[in-house]
Amino acid sequence: MELDRSDEEILSGEFGETRRVMLEILIALGKIYDAERLIPVSSVQVSGASYKTIGDAGLEWLEGLDARAVVPAFLNPIGMPREQWSEMGIDGVFAGKQEEILNAYQRLGIRLTCTCTPYYHQIVQYGDHLAWSESSAVAYANSVLGARTNREGGPSALASALIGKTPEYGLHIMKNRLPDLIITLDDPAAAKDWGPAEYGALGFVAGKEVGNRVPFFRGLRPNRDRLKALGAAMAATGAVALFHVEDITPEARVPFFRKSFSVDEKETIEIAVSDINAVFSDIEVNAVAVGCPHLSEDELRGLADLLAGKKVKKPFFVFVSQEMLNEHRDLVTTIDRSGAHVYADTCMVVSPATDKLGSVMTNSGKAFSYLPAMCGVLPRLGTIQDCVRVATE
Ligand code: F3S
Repeated sequence: MELDRSDEEILSGEFGETRRVMLEILIALGKIYDAERLIPVSSVQVSGASYKTIGDAGLEWLEGLDARAVVPAFLNPIGMPREQWSEMGIDGVFAGKQEEILNAYQRLGIRLTCTCTPYYHQIVQYGDHLAWSESSAVAYANSVLGARTNREGGPSALASALIGKTPEYGLHIMKNRLPDLIITLDDPAAAKDWGPAEYGALGFVAGKEVGNRVPFFRGLRPNRDRLKALGAAMAATGAVALFHVEDITPEARVPFFRKSFSVDEKETIEIAVSDINAVFSDIEVNAVAVGCPHLSEDELRGLADLLAGKKVKKPFFVFVSQEMLNEHRDLVTTIDRSGAHVYADTCMVVSPATDKLGSVMTNSGKAFSYLPAMCGVLPRLGTIQDCVRVATE
């Protein structure tokens, strides 16, 4: 693998043991995937931030590192809101450990912006090379923004933050971003009025078929929130890090893409709308949780409109980034008045608070997929309107 002078200096140990080891991680990864060189990244998102997922072993590893991030780097959601953790039912021992993890990341120069939607607060441009690790953020960055990132693990993303580079392989290379298969619906007209929940259900079904390939959807016209829901769910049931939607997503319109890819030569999978409808159910639930991935401004506003003047009769959790919460206090106040709670920095999957709920309704195909295995709860998928109805009736 081609290394430049600064890489050689880091490898010599001149810039400390941590940076030497981090560069070794990137080089080892590059060798596995036949990368020819390391390329600069413009930002990094580091997963492995919740004490629930990394535990004491992860904390100990982080505390042993000694270097500072050299590019903008931020965190995935942690196991609790940084301010109202006791209100959410988090115990003091967990909170103390979570604080230690945050302190360790802060010492490494990682911003304590804990969200899976960093793209709402960070400028990401078409063609930017990134090293992001949360699967829905990766799918959004690649597919909706046209940036380029592999789905990094926590350690490789942290290594990229401390070195400022990533090995050039996989989705950093344009030819690997071309579609592998086509996906259509047996009744495309049914999708006309679909919201994020239906797109999440489509992603839930499609992800199982697609695996880690790059799908190209035809016959759909999703907006950004629906694309977010689709990608998040496909990344959960499959390992989809990039998808295209005909005439909608940015790379599906560039000349390179049009010249290099023929719809007629690809395998086509037709998904039955009845299979998507079957993901929805009407089981009784103890609580409702929305904001997986963290809500956009439009989604927060839509939820505030639905909850205005109503009272929830079940626990209702709403997850957003801290920036979104700060910027839209009026919407948060409307939601709070209904008895629902808006929390930042965390989510229903990475927080231990969800584990005690038994059954949870969500409008997210990704949460629907993860809640049983990660939290041991029975999930129900419904539209945001149904979530509000079930919580308030
Ligand atoms: Fe984000 Fe948590 Fe869902 S990290 S994508 S809200 S599982």
